[in-house]
Amino acid sequence: MKIKVENSLSSPVILSFSKEDTISAYVSNGGFEVLDDFIINGKKKEILSEVTKSDLKGRGGAAFKVGIKWNAVAKIESDKKFVVCNADEGEPGTFKDRWLLENRPFLIIEAITLCAYAVGASKGYIYIRGEYKNSIKTFKNALTQAYEEGFLGKNIFNSNFNFDLEIRQGAGSYVCGEETALLESIEGKRAQPRFKPPFPVEKGLWGYPTVINNVETFANVVNIIKNGANWFKQLGTENSPGTKLFPVSGRIQEPCLVEANLGVSLEKLIEEAGGVDGEFQCALVGGAAGNFIYEKELNYPLSYETLKEKGMVLGSGAVLILNRNDKKEEIVEKILEFFINESCGKCTPCREGYPILLEKFNGYLNGSVSMDEVLKLSELMFKTSLCALGQSSKFLFESYFKV
Ligand SMILES: Cc1cc2nc3c(=O)[nH]c(=O)nc-3n(C[C@H](O)[C@H](O)[C@H](O)COP(=O)(O)O)c2cc1C
Ligand code: SF4
Repeated sequence: MKIKVENSLSSPVILSFSKEDTISAYVSNGGFEVLDDFIINGKKKEILSEVTKSDLKGRGGAAFKVGIKWNAVAKIESDKKFVVCNADEGEPGTFKDRWLLENRPFLIIEAITLCAYAVGASKGYIYIRGEYKNSIKTFKNALTQAYEEGFLGKNIFNSNFNFDLEIRQGAGSYVCGEETALLESIEGKRAQPRFKPPFPVEKGLWGYPTVINNVETFANVVNIIKNGANWFKQLGTENSPGTKLFPVSGRIQEPCLVEANLGVSLEKLIEEAGGVDGEFQCALVGGAAGNFIYEKELNYPLSYETLKEKGMVLGSGAVLILNRNDKKEEIVEKILEFFINESCGKCTPCREGYPILLEKFNGYLNGSVSMDEVLKLSELMFKTSLCALGQSSKFLFESYFKV
């Protein structure tokens, strides 16, 4: 897979680290120095304050502030706490976490361990998508090396801090990536989302306070601590600081993973990926849970707040390019079929809603159902579904009908 850095990006965050084949390569490039410094000097509060000041937002789709979660777990008195890394990556068109797991495993291990130290957790899990056999193998190997070198396990850096990190293989459905369904799955149960509140920071894994963050979210942490929150905030936009990994695929000359400042335009991403294969029609941004973006929006900044202003989402950041020969309605049908198959069935609006929505959409295509009827149902599902799987079609249809 080709990896690109947007040309105007002077300080890539994640790609600034060189390839980590072995732990010694990572260490010789300054790896684990931050962990060493902060553990030896007992700087838990400093980790929390730097992450909070950085205003880093979760890269798994919901863009929730990382500092709020970490502080919430740190504050609670509990004899057990957990850190969980969400590496389930089931969003269609998304391959950023896989790349990180296979190319930056030690960066992820260091970040998870920093988090555990800051919030007071002694056990962590990384839940890796079951189909990612190679990622699991690479990460397993990296864990073995980290244990051998004493960066994980008992008395890390001769301190009294102990931390164990374990891989859990994903159970094979899209909804396993929803944070509470993922926790259920780790607990050995069927992966179905829980009612919230309580949120995982309060009652997470086996009822204990739990931080859960996406792989890419963790991938930002070491650099934030190393270079400071102010450095990080110079990247991206005011309300969406930092960079983002954008997996670009579909009708594109060079499908690739681009690291770019948040606020980058779709046009720039397309340029980095060698241009459109054919004539640009639109892009599906954010995967199945995302939305269509059109030619007139090619220069629009891709950041959490700018898209929100337009009633859109950035989601996982996946960019799927469609050319004029592609049938947008077929993509929508496939997405609805995907949601029907992946719905866990726990709540009625999603379980019953998606098959009806597909029927209505087909009715719209043959002229027997109005656009308003389709939009009304997706809006109802948005308001009443238990998790974002049942809520997603609102963004899809609002953007579908925009042109
Ligand atoms: C159906 C569904 C699937 C999801 N899949 C993933 C996933 O594969 N990876 C991920 O990080 N977050 C996924 N999420 C979002 C998580 O629920 C959660 O917001 C995320 O793990 C929090 O981490 P972050 O704050 O670092 O983004 C999914 C959500 C839903 C509703
Ligand atoms: S919205 Fe769908 S996937 Fe989510 S809990 Fe309800 S039935 Fe399950």
